[in-house]
Amino acid sequence: MAGENEAAPAFDYAPPGASAMLASLRGIGYSPATAIADLIDNSIAAEASRVRLDFLWRGAASILRITDNGSGMDRDTLVEAMRPAGRHPNAPRAPKDLGRFGLGLKTASLSQGKLLAVASKVPGQRVEARCWDLGHVEKVNAWQLLQGVPQEIADDITLLDEETQGTVVIVSGLDRLLGKEISDNATDRNRFYAMARTVERHLAMTFHRYLEGASPKLMITINGYDETSKILPWDPFASKHLATAPTPIEYLNHSGGAIEVQGFVLPHRDRMTSAEFDLAEGPSGWQAHEGFFVYRGQRLLVSGGWLGLGPGRGWPQNGVHRLARLRLDLPTSGDHEWKVDIRKSSATPPPALRGRLQALAESVRRDAREIFVQRAGGGSKQQRDQLVRVWQPVHSSRGVSYKIDRAHPVVSRALSAVGGERSLVEEMLGVVEATVPLQRIWLDVVESNETATQPSEAAIPDDDETSLLSLYRHMRTELQLAPDVAKARLMKLEPFAAYPAAILRLPDIPGE
Ligand SMILES: Nc1ncnc2c1ncn2[C@@H]1O[C@H](COP(=O)(O)OP(=O)(O)OP(=O)(O)O)[C@@H](O)[C@H]1O
Ligand SMILES: [Mg+2]
Repeated sequence: MAGENEAAPAFDYAPPGASAMLASLRGIGYSPATAIADLIDNSIAAEASRVRLDFLWRGAASILRITDNGSGMDRDTLVEAMRPAGRHPNAPRAPKDLGRFGLGLKTASLSQGKLLAVASKVPGQRVEARCWDLGHVEKVNAWQLLQGVPQEIADDITLLDEETQGTVVIVSGLDRLLGKEISDNATDRNRFYAMARTVERHLAMTFHRYLEGASPKLMITINGYDETSKILPWDPFASKHLATAPTPIEYLNHSGGAIEVQGFVLPHRDRMTSAEFDLAEGPSGWQAHEGFFVYRGQRLLVSGGWLGLGPGRGWPQNGVHRLARLRLDLPTSGDHEWKVDIRKSSATPPPALRGRLQALAESVRRDAREIFVQRAGGGSKQQRDQLVRVWQPVHSSRGVSYKIDRAHPVVSRALSAVGGERSLVEEMLGVVEATVPLQRIWLDVVESNETATQPSEAAIPDDDETSLLSLYRHMRTELQLAPDVAKARLMKLEPFAAYPAAILRLPDIPGE
């Protein structure tokens, strides 16, 4: 313990250089979409119910503008808000406050442009405005926060005049939004608006919990203020779809606060219309969205991946488990334990929770894999379990191999028909089983973006139709099964189970 009389330590005074520090803060690694999401976090923390986002095209002088109807800031609060690392990360915060580091407003906006202007208003007071102009800071190399806003954007903050409260954040000098300075030509104009669409998809995902429901907590509009400009939520779990299979919600307690986990197995492609399927895929594609969706205070942080869970360096996103998505809800109080980063785009499970999370993920992965590789027309899980399959997986210490089921009616019929030559056919089946090109099939499945076996009800392949008819004839004439008994058996038999309509339209074949 330092004694009371101990001399103060000698020191040199070493504050950061203003120009270099602000320039470095630009490079934290935001994308335009994650930067704008970070700014909307602030609107939510200020209890805004409306956020208006505008991409205003003006060539090199284009701007991004985020306007909210939140609580706003008075002059002192605004100056404090503009201070980098204004609030200590350990300072207590309201549970609904999505902030942590006191940096987002500055780092997110300056990651896209060289000027950040903020105008804000609290009830009964006039609009206050301040801006960080990197050009100016570079010139004076001092922490000079400018009062007011530059003339060229003065008109862009007047929309606050009609409101009782709220905040406008403007980013201009957009030298990084398109990865380069913006030129005043048609190509850049198109890219600027395409970027608006990309951002829109990201926000639809990131804030979907705020945007959905009968009376959403938040409305975000983009490039307009009417119904048609409203950003619609994207639900990663297709939770309204009847064929989506959710697990029960599980609650886990941890020192960082109680968390909630729920797994979802999305429907097989054949159980969705193509519009539903395209929608369910999500902004980054099936493979990238496989795994955990981590939310912090209902706001999405992580949109897929297995959080390092699984053996070795963790399960990769291999696409086979693409129908598995898990919702993981964290409170904002768990940031330290979960290693939440400044951009609010990553989180790591604390060691104490890994085992349970992994077990949960394993069971969802198993079900998702099963659905992914199922053949069309498989029906419910119970129906699939009753299916008589041609290929049977055999698990051994050397891994899994596949055997042809000799009891499958098509196989057993052929085996008994060859009589004394049975061993020849057995030999052939053995060779086929020993050379199943598993790697090849696996690659093809993953790369083709869908299951390898996808017969559709509309078209039963000719070969299958021939063997269906032949087997049905055999069942009627030799096994003497009644037509509906024979058809019921075929309905449970691979590959015919996938074609119920073809089974129903089998011709009348008189029994012997
Ligand atoms: N739109 C807004 N409306 C009202 N206050 C705001 C708004 N944006 C920022 N603020 C104020 O500015 C402060 C600083 O915001 P900033 O995003 O830099 O840090 P933070 O939200 O506290 O933490 P984080 O770095 O984790 O985002 C906020 O704590 C809030 O008080
Ligand atoms: Mg913030």
